[in-house]
Amino acid sequence: MANRLGTLPRKLVVFTGAGMSAESGVDTFRTPGGIWQRYAVEDVATPEAWARDPDRVTDFYNMRRRQLVEEAMPHAGHRLIAQLEEHTEVRVVTQNVDDLHERAGSSHVLHLHGELRRVRSTGPDATSYPWEGWEVRPTDRCPAGYRLRPDVVWFGEEVPNWPVALHALQDADALLVVGTSLRVYPAAGLLEAMPASAHITLVDPDEIPLQRGVHLQATASEGLAELWKAWLPGMPL
Ligand code: OAD
Repeated sequence: MANRLGTLPRKLVVFTGAGMSAESGVDTFRTPGGIWQRYAVEDVATPEAWARDPDRVTDFYNMRRRQLVEEAMPHAGHRLIAQLEEHTEVRVVTQNVDDLHERAGSSHVLHLHGELRRVRSTGPDATSYPWEGWEVRPTDRCPAGYRLRPDVVWFGEEVPNWPVALHALQDADALLVVGTSLRVYPAAGLLEAMPASAHITLVDPDEIPLQRGVHLQATASEGLAELWKAWLPGMPL
């Protein structure tokens, strides 16, 4: 019987969501107890929320940045994705604002929703800067004197990296989706964007309707280990 997980692709895009980071102790959004059950999107993750109460928005992202900087570490699944680069061409496209793929050693990581460890000037040039530590104070300013906002994409904002992601996807012969409910556009339209010949695998413990491809109903670390064994038989993890 042919292996339902296929063979090692030549050009692989790994598309990840919050579930990829769950085993690192980072909160997911829509799962029970997730972030959007504790906070209203319109209070903390929209341009209007920032205009109304920038301190509250700053606090929300400080709390998430603190969890990332002080507690979260990449897990075996992140490391496995990084190690795949030794065997094939791998691009990571992530909805996650954490830096766990980079810390695990992945060298091509495209962030669709921005990065928690960067801040952006609210001045006209909107320059983005790396940020040390977790706390951004309401009084912190860019060199030109403007307040700093998180360098993330909010609901209602453009996703500037989407065309770049689409290009990578259309050039790939396989897509591996890990830990996302695929409920947020444009990512929700991802599977339709893939060439018909591309092999699609989803790793997620939840029931997720999938138009095509193989669903490994497992956590990120378990599902990725299973894929590694199928794609690289005999190769130690
Ligand atoms: P969600 O919280 O919507 O979905 C998380 C997915 O991870 C669910 O399908 C879970 O079943 C799965 N999951 C949970 N634990 C897992 C584990 N250990 N291993 C693998 N999967 C696991 O998060 P996203 O789909 O990433 O956007 O959400 C997409 C976007 O919506 C986020 O980037 C964020 C959010 O609102 C913005 O803030 C703009």
